[in-house]
Amino acid sequence: MTGSQPKLALVIGGSRGIGRAIVLRLAREGFDVWLTCRSNMEAAEKVKAEVEKLGRACTIFMFDIADHQAVKAALEKPLETRVPDAVVYNAGIAKDNLFVFMTKNEWDSVLHTNLDGFYHVMHTVIFSMLREKRGRIVVISSTSGEIGQAGQVNYSASKAGLIGAAKALAREVARKNIWVNVVAPGLIDTEMTQDLPKDRILPMIPMHRFGTADEVASIVTFLCAEQHMYIHGQVIGVNGGLAI
Ligand SMILES: NC(=O)c1ccc[n+]([C@@H]2O[C@H](COP(=O)([O-])OP(=O)(O)OC[C@H]3O[C@@H](n4cnc5c(N)ncnc54)[C@H](OP(=O)(O)O)[C@@H]3O)[C@@H](O)[C@H]2O)c1
Repeated sequence: MTGSQPKLALVIGGSRGIGRAIVLRLAREGFDVWLTCRSNMEAAEKVKAEVEKLGRACTIFMFDIADHQAVKAALEKPLETRVPDAVVYNAGIAKDNLFVFMTKNEWDSVLHTNLDGFYHVMHTVIFSMLREKRGRIVVISSTSGEIGQAGQVNYSASKAGLIGAAKALAREVARKNIWVNVVAPGLIDTEMTQDLPKDRILPMIPMHRFGTADEVASIVTFLCAEQHMYIHGQVIGVNGGLAI
């Protein structure tokens, strides 16, 4: 709680998959939630209803993180009245192809969304957090951003870029009591990984299974909510041993 008001979390990409699990965990932890999605309002409304069932408030914002003006138009006004205690930058896309066949559009759309989106969102939010002199930021990267993945040169570049951006930001804002960390999931059971050839992939994972969205959400919630914390500027892998 901040004074008598509940804490507030802004979850970018909270309508489905990992983001949905993060929203619900944070709500159980006592956070009100600002949930964003790109277009799937139906899914977002369902998550909002689940949050409200948990007794917390939830507001939905719909925008494309690749569109700077849209991000600003959606968030600037609400930020004048309430500042999130935690921001989870979770939204992201993949457009996989071997690099030799990768189109400029596949490269551009993944970089514009995943990496430029970080600037669009965090640059819109950070000033209000600096003013409050408190906050937690968690950026969702990927094992692909840590060790690279064939067929994902664009995605790996964007996710490695997020690690660099988060680490640099962590150095800039620590003095203002803002904690920044990265969570790097391996293979997690969501719509994004639905079409992957599981039988070929499982032998590469020491734990021999995909992770669940909730297994990512638990560490994100810890990084957003734990009071006794000294973790800053770190990349926490949640990957069943895929990257050791
Ligand atoms: N699943 C995995 O195995 C895995 C592994 C490593 C990292 N990750 C990362 O974890 C994050 C979540 O993955 P996921 O599997 O949960 O994905 P998902 O099921 O595809 O959900 C993506 C979420 O991000 C939102 N989103 C996507 N593009 C957006 C855009 N341009 N603007 C605004 N919102 C956008 C979606 O909104 P709509 O519902 O409106 O489309 C949705 O809420 C991503 O950053 C992904 O790269 C996933």
